[in-house]
Parts: sequence; structure tokens; C-alpha cells
Amino acid sequence: MSFRLDGRVAWVTGGARGIGAAVSIKLAEAGAKVAAMDIDEEALKSFSARMAAEGKGIFETYQGDVCDEASVAGVVQAITRDLGPVDILVNNAGIIRDRMFRNMALEDWRSVLDVNLTGTFVCTRAVIEGMAERKFGRVINTASISALGNPGQANYTAAKSGVIGLTKTLALEYARHGVTVNCVAPGATLTEMTRSLPMEAKKRFIEKIPVGRMAEPEEIAVMHLFLASEEARYVTGQVIFVDGGVSCGF
Ligand SMILES: NC(=O)c1ccc[n+]([C@@H]2O[C@H](COP(=O)([O-])OP(=O)(O)OC[C@H]3O[C@@H](n4cnc5c(N)ncnc54)[C@H](O)[C@@H]3O)[C@@H](O)[C@H]2O)c1
Repeated sequence: MSFRLDGRVAWVTGGARGIGAAVSIKLAEAGAKVAAMDIDEEALKSFSARMAAEGKGIFETYQGDVCDEASVAGVVQAITRDLGPVDILVNNAGIIRDRMFRNMALEDWRSVLDVNLTGTFVCTRAVIEGMAERKFGRVINTASISALGNPGQANYTAAKSGVIGLTKTLALEYARHGVTVNCVAPGATLTEMTRSLPMEAKKRFIEKIPVGRMAEPEEIAVMHLFLASEEARYVTGQVIFVDGGVSCGF
């Protein structure tokens, strides 16, 4: 079975690179009209050029900051004007500021909570009522294997655990309105985010991955395609680990 999203409008935050870019491509290939939003204008430009060169379907790019309500409102207005009202929201934008807790500054804490958790709140609030009125919606949030706990990531694990709680409560509040709210929890994935980690740290977590390697972004994006589809209408409030088996135990 191949899942189709023809005519649906999908908004992907942090959509210019990494997992967000892979999700944007996957959803566009399935027929969705994709709005890739990112804070990084340069990354958006090169993503846009790549999409056009590869002929990946209907898509637009938007510069914006998920933490900033006014910026998000402007982006939503532009998406609605260019592509139509948002049917699928992928809350993917995220950052890390890793430090052991003893060295973690309040700014490290605040910035990570802001982008990963508050950004998810701001973007979801901007579109979920419209989805409920139209009786169709898909909100796909992003947690992480790190939500289970990871030394050096107290800020990130707290943010991603918050995203899981938000997912479950929104799933309950909107289940009767045709809107599903789920959460993809990737394991270690080959993107810019993990490229900056020291080789030693990478080796350590690869050893813990049952399939023996990190994921390609496309291997995460298949889950977004499924959750965005009509066929996933009975799946809501779930946290789905796409992690090569890491969360099964050790
Ligand atoms: N790479 C991994 O191993 C991994 C594992 C688990 C979860 N995740 C999560 O998956 C998501 C994507 O991660 P990635 O690895 O592709 O990261 P990445 O750094 O490659 O991409 C993240 C994108 O988000 C954008 N962004 C950052 N702050 C933003 C803001 N305030 N507003 C709008 N856009 C913003 C960045 O510019 C970037 O393009 C994140 O939520 C991350 O926490 C990643």
C-alpha cells in the first residue's frame, strides 16, 4: 500500500534540512502541497533549489521562528494564501545545547525548552482549531529517544518529555474533531544535529543500537507519511519510536 496525501496542505517546521527536509520531500512525493518553514534563510534557499531541481511536486518555503507568535501567525497567513488551510502540521524544529547539568546555564535550558516545546505549542495553537472546524487534521510532533533520559541533555530530555505530554493531552481534546495528534520519537539520525557530536559519543550510542547503525532521515520520514495519511485516522496520542530497536531495552 502506498499512502497518498493528494490535495492536503502540510506545514513542516524546521523543514529546510535534516529530518524536516526528508519529511517535506516524502509528503510532497505523496501529493501534499508542502510548506517548509525554517529560521535559517540560507538553508531554505538551498532546500528550495534542491526541490525544484529534483521536481518534487508542489511546495513553498517560508522563513520564520517557531517560538515567535507573530512570526508564526505571518507564516500561517502566507501558507493559507499560497496553498490553502493547513491540514497536516509537522512540529519538527528542534535544537540541542548539550551540557552536563552542573554546567547548564539557564539560557541553555530556556532556549531548548523554547524551540522544542514552546515552539510546538505556538505552531499547534495557530492551526489546530481550523483543523477541528474542517473535521480533518494531523498534528505530528517530534520527541526523541533522549526523552527516556540521556546524560548531558537535561534540557532536551525535559523538552521532549513535555512534547510527549502535550501530544497525549491534545489527542484527547481533539479526538472527536477528526484531528489526530501523535509523536515520532527518532533515534540517532544522520543530520546536522548529530554531525557536530564528538566521534567518541557517536561510537558509544551506535554500540547501543540493535540494528548497528544510525538512521537516515528518510527512514524516520516514512512514519510521518503514515501518520499524515487518511489510513492512520484511528491512531492518536501515540509516541512511535523509530530508533532501530534502542527503546526495547539493553
Ligand atoms: N538527529 C537526531 O539524531 C534526532 C534524534 C531524535 C530527535 N531528533 C529531533 O528531530 C527534529 C529534527 O532534527 P534534525 O536532526 O533534523 O536537526 P537539524 O538541526 O538538522 O534540523 C533542525 C532544523 O530546525 C530549524 N530550526 C531551529 N530552530 C528553529 C526555530 N526557532 N524556528 C524554525 N526552525 C528552526 C533549523 O534551522 C534546522 O533547519 C528535532 O526536533 C530533533 O530534536 C533528532
